[in-house]
Amino acid sequence: MNLDLFDEAASRQPPRAEQIGPQTVVLRAFALPFVDALLPPLRAVLKAAPFRRMTTPGGQSMSVALSNCGTLGWTTDAHGYRYTGLDPLTGQPWPDLPESFLRLGAEAAAQAGFADFRADACLINRYVPGARMSLHQDRDEQDFDAPIVSVSLGLPAMFQMGGLQRSDRPLRVPLLHGDVLVWGGVDRLRFHGVLPLREGHHPVMGPQRINLTLRKAG
Ligand code: SIN
Ligand code: FE2
Repeated sequence: MNLDLFDEAASRQPPRAEQIGPQTVVLRAFALPFVDALLPPLRAVLKAAPFRRMTTPGGQSMSVALSNCGTLGWTTDAHGYRYTGLDPLTGQPWPDLPESFLRLGAEAAAQAGFADFRADACLINRYVPGARMSLHQDRDEQDFDAPIVSVSLGLPAMFQMGGLQRSDRPLRVPLLHGDVLVWGGVDRLRFHGVLPLREGHHPVMGPQRINLTLRKAG
């Protein structure tokens, strides 16, 4: 048995939901029972579509490295932000969305009040210490009917959940390994971001944080 894992699970509160907006919910520890089923397919996805650092339309190199799986993958370059069916790095379709990712996405969405969520895209973000994501909206999807399901793995992060205006002061939400954040409906276009990741070593994931963002993009 992995004692680190056991200790972590035992020291955490039982899964609980924190409502942080009309249609924004943090599901604490919700993904913990899924982790063993997520990691082997995650490794396979990353072998086929490795992490890479992309450039924003403004010419900045992102501190977060990313990859995707699903029929669509989110990319950015000098020409803008968009979803593509092919990985620009390999020229191949993005790897399929693993069944365990789909199941976690659907169950977390349902728990947060969004029935029948089926993701077609999963953005995979890797944060090393110092990496951050500035405030933005997720608005490259075809429509905004489906929620966003965001799964945190590895090192803790300080998430910023803002409002519908960029100038709205963001809430600070600490996200730990296994936490799932879901937002949709009237909250679908809330600004959000992640403060610079702090140094550390996570017993399961090592010196990094990986975030899975499940979306319906097409
Ligand atoms: C994102 O908004 O794409 C990333 C969110 C996160 O890493 O928690
Ligand atoms: Fe986002």
